[in-house]
Amino acid sequence: MGTRNATTYAAADIVNYYAQLNRLQPAESALLERLRDQLPRMKMLDIGVGGGRTAQHFAPLVEQYVGIDYSSEMVAACQQRFRKLNHPMSFAVADARDLSQLDNNSFDFILFSYNGIDYVSHDDRLKILQEIKRVGKQGCYFFFSSHNLQALENELTWQKQIGANPLKTYENLVMLGLFRLFNRSINRQILAKANYLIVRDESHNFRLETYYIRAEQQIRQLSKDFSHVEIYPWQSTEKVLDLDAAAMGRDLWIYYLCRIKTVN
Ligand SMILES: C[S@@+](CC[C@H](N)C(=O)[O-])C[C@H]1O[C@@H](n2cnc3c(N)ncnc32)[C@H](O)[C@@H]1O
Repeated sequence: MGTRNATTYAAADIVNYYAQLNRLQPAESALLERLRDQLPRMKMLDIGVGGGRTAQHFAPLVEQYVGIDYSSEMVAACQQRFRKLNHPMSFAVADARDLSQLDNNSFDFILFSYNGIDYVSHDDRLKILQEIKRVGKQGCYFFFSSHNLQALENELTWQKQIGANPLKTYENLVMLGLFRLFNRSINRQILAKANYLIVRDESHNFRLETYYIRAEQQIRQLSKDFSHVEIYPWQSTEKVLDLDAAAMGRDLWIYYLCRIKTVN
């Protein structure tokens, strides 16, 4: 899955798309408000910064801001976008799987927003979590989002595509057909059994390979090195207290807030 995704994130149309995004997603806004008082004392690492959508909101509020991306084209877009701003922010090309250019215990807050962690293999995802644990201080906040396999499973039935608007229904059915075409090896049984799956979904016209995971599995994946895990469906400013909440079966992206474990 490595080269397909890296090539897509280097493509000019994709870079231009991310470089014009402005708004925080509801769950990100909730986090910003929650950390607002602490941000002036925080060193922040923004992984997979893309075209700088989150940089413009967080960089002015933190003590130090570093945005990284493995796409040099995305980093160049950030440098161009923020060239006239006064507050200090730095951008660098770096792959989250190997952050050797960053020191141990350096950051208080690490963000990997908009599902950026979902574009590597399962083993590489675990490497990323290790690297985040290494470069973050003990107690460092880690906030990221990931695709929700439970919602995908619920979404992929033809009954779900039918609505009052015939044009929308037609579009939805075409998309479902294309999904099946691009993911011929995935059937309902495989979907129901999997804890995580890599699929070609409709984002950027099926150009990406994307990791989807069930929330309970994501929590398990975090449990070795991270604590205090909280879950925010991406469209919500309220955390969910119960994995059976309706949003968990509906929202295709889930935000996770957690902290690097403190070792005594
Ligand atoms: C969906 S885009 C989100 C961009 C930006 N964070 C935003 O919210 O608008 C995902 C970003 O993650 C970056 N990315 C994916 N895998 C990465 C990796 N292993 N290391 C660093 N960046 C990565 C991509 O290049 C892309 O810019």
